[in-house]
Amino acid sequence: MIILLKYINKKYKPGSNDLVAEYRVEPNKISIEEACEKIAGESSIGTWTTISTMNKKIAKKLKPNVYSIDKKTKQVKIAYPAELFEAGNMPQIYSAIAGNIFGMKAVKGLRLEDISFPKSIMNKFSGPKFGVKGVRKLLGIKKRPLVGTIVKPKVGLTYKQHAKVAYDAWRGGLDIVKDDENLASMSFNNFEKRVKETLRLRDKAEKETGEKKMYMANVTAETDTMLKRAKYVKSLGGEYVMIDIITSGWSGLQTLREANLGRVIHAHRAMHGAFTENPKHGISMLTIAKTARLIGVDQIHVGAIVGKMKGGKEEVQAIGEEIEKNIIQPDKEEHVLAQRWWNIKPVFAVCSGGLWPGKIPNLMKAMGNDIIMQFGGGCHGHPDGTFAGARAIRQALDASMNLIPLKEYSEFHKELNLAIKKWKE
Ligand code: 3PG
Ligand code: MG
Repeated sequence: MIILLKYINKKYKPGSNDLVAEYRVEPNKISIEEACEKIAGESSIGTWTTISTMNKKIAKKLKPNVYSIDKKTKQVKIAYPAELFEAGNMPQIYSAIAGNIFGMKAVKGLRLEDISFPKSIMNKFSGPKFGVKGVRKLLGIKKRPLVGTIVKPKVGLTYKQHAKVAYDAWRGGLDIVKDDENLASMSFNNFEKRVKETLRLRDKAEKETGEKKMYMANVTAETDTMLKRAKYVKSLGGEYVMIDIITSGWSGLQTLREANLGRVIHAHRAMHGAFTENPKHGISMLTIAKTARLIGVDQIHVGAIVGKMKGGKEEVQAIGEEIEKNIIQPDKEEHVLAQRWWNIKPVFAVCSGGLWPGKIPNLMKAMGNDIIMQFGGGCHGHPDGTFAGARAIRQALDASMNLIPLKEYSEFHKELNLAIKKWKE
């Protein structure tokens, strides 16, 4: 007997063992209902035709339910039974609910807006080892946002020049220095040599300033090499590793997290724009950030609102809340589903891209104090160089923490004054 599956069931109420996905569905010359039937089937147990191998038992246990279709907004919600997934295997989860369906002729556009994970799946992931509290403890900074820089040029400096730039930034008052997303082990800047020299100067900067200083070494590479590099950072006393989570993929990130090296994991999102920017097709940045929290990053780039990267205030704020709160209330406007995070720790939101000191007050107003602000060009582009650039950033932060307008503060702080003169436009 051939079973005809029907996935749309508007009476269905998602249960505690369901994974819920919200999509925006733009059908291609068919009705939205027909498109939903195809999406639900292809992402779970179905295919383009009825099959003789399907039995009632499988269908009853594993059939997803399309329980909400909003024809006006094209937003659709599908509840998938948790048994469809290998809990703890993020690539498999994405192969199902974010897999073949994006390339089907049935849809002109398809966007995965959010995933709500049930406890049974959440339990199988580690989440961040440190999270916001752990990172603050490591740095000994209780309230204020953390400030850092990305060594610039992105690539091009020798390992010695790189370490010197980092040292100047730390001396100037920054907490964190990170490699850029495209800096790995280069012919002119070897990873091991860079890490050793940069950590040596980190120690010197710590002694001179009396403050804790952190270096985020970019370990992005194929997984064996990545792990070797992360272990090397650990062997030299580096607290942090950084990974480009999109280009490395979920399995790369899971491998790094599950190696449990006791290092803080900083997540860069380079390449996300290829699929997060189109409101009608792709995967939202919220979904990416949420998935990264679940796997276990401690901090992640979410956008900077006021800087050079796309991402409006509401969107970036919603991502910030998703990664920092324990209970998420649904938000129809921003396509956020309800989520309880159980024992998965909150993650630091990293705001970076086109920032300079003058942007600090508005960014803090929009995102609060639990953020890491990073300045590349906005530090090394200071007329008097990296050290002065770092001082200007710290001055702007101090002024903002004390609610003093930057213009006023800059009258007695020459580095900030020069930064404002250069970038005020
Ligand atoms: C980053 O990786 O976040 C960017 O390199 C930021 O650089 P910018 O501050 O010069 O835009
Ligand atoms: Mg960068």
